[in-house]
Amino acid sequence: MRYKLRCISCGTVYDPSEVEYTCPKCGPRKGTLEVIFDYDEIKVSREEFSPEADMFQFEKLLPLPKDYYKVPLKVGGTPLYEFPNTAEKLGLNRFLVKYDGVNPTASYKDRASAMAIAKATEKGYKIIYAASTGNAASSLSGLTAATPHLKSVIFVPVRAPRPKIVQIKVFGATLVAIDGSYDQAFDISMKVGEKMGWYSRNSAINPYLLEGKKTGAMEIAVQMGYEVPDYVLVGVGDGTVISGIYKGFYDMYKVELIDRVPKIIGVQAEGADAVKKVFDKGEPFEPIDMEASTIADSIAVGKPRDVVKACRYVKASGGFYVSVSDEEIIEAQVELASEMGVFAEPAGAAPYAGLKKLLKIGKVGKDDVVVIAVTGNGLKDIRALEKKFDITPVSPNEEDVLDYLKKVFDF
Ligand SMILES: Cc1ncc(COP(=O)(O)O)c(C=O)c1O
Ligand SMILES: [Zn+2]
Repeated sequence: MRYKLRCISCGTVYDPSEVEYTCPKCGPRKGTLEVIFDYDEIKVSREEFSPEADMFQFEKLLPLPKDYYKVPLKVGGTPLYEFPNTAEKLGLNRFLVKYDGVNPTASYKDRASAMAIAKATEKGYKIIYAASTGNAASSLSGLTAATPHLKSVIFVPVRAPRPKIVQIKVFGATLVAIDGSYDQAFDISMKVGEKMGWYSRNSAINPYLLEGKKTGAMEIAVQMGYEVPDYVLVGVGDGTVISGIYKGFYDMYKVELIDRVPKIIGVQAEGADAVKKVFDKGEPFEPIDMEASTIADSIAVGKPRDVVKACRYVKASGGFYVSVSDEEIIEAQVELASEMGVFAEPAGAAPYAGLKKLLKIGKVGKDDVVVIAVTGNGLKDIRALEKKFDITPVSPNEEDVLDYLKKVFDF
């Protein structure tokens, strides 16, 4: 498929053969690139898409060559659950959850990794690297494990949740566990990756990741019968997932599969709300960096790499940003799990926390159809919840068990 790359800040258009990652004029921070298409050239109809197929069902809308490499694991085609009881409780018209915890490595990041692996294959690379708060890393490790012609090198903060680190190791990737923050892991990975000539799957730097990430939005549109919701809420760290969600709806709008783009709301943790700060300050969106601190490790980003895009796109959608406390995130995790059976990691529960806050202040209301993106499986990080629940051992005899149950059931 034919496409071009355009700088989000200065608007310069490049041929994909001219530039690999970011705009040379604006640099890696402000010069992230968007993939642009000639929409008149794309012929698609609603009938060709299904609610269950994997993300590559959207290949006509992806910047891929004819014979591209597709990972053998099923990426995308994740469920969109509707919860009428929750809608009623919250006072919404409809409430739905896009659950990406069922992807091969249990997060939304598999969509970007599958795309990065297809591009690395097309470009003839043998090694692909990534810096990550954890999920992009475990994702890239898992999907390269299923790809015989590629190896991965991963840079993560050593304090990333253990399940994510174990995933990286068991998938057989080379792990560099950085004794520092994600922001530090990112910077050092860029230096080393460039020096070694490896392909970068670093968030925002690689323009194709967002194209993989847009497929989640496209699935929402298909699964809702092309009647898109009023709001989609997304957890935000670097800002690439949210930009991808916007772009998915935008591309579908441009090829006339849907008649509007929903308002996209970014949800950040209070201790890592650099994108919100930039958005609230207004245009031109100048990066504001901070020290990140939140229990939601996946969105513990102080130096967001896709901040310009994340602000531009959310503004274009008519949406905005909101921040939530760690306590609100944990509460949202528990509520999603205990009332809907959806176990989200903290970053995946943040959108629900954001929604509850917006309902309280009346920014979202009873006529609205709302989708939240649960981007990561709860089993990925149970640290915050573990502390919350105490588990009392009970002796394996009938009397003690009945005694214990009496306290619960009052019989
Ligand atoms: C579960 C989860 N949710 C949300 C995000 C946020 O994505 P982004 O950093 O692109 O804003 C991440 C990123 O690691 C994630 O792993
Ligand atoms: Zn530029």
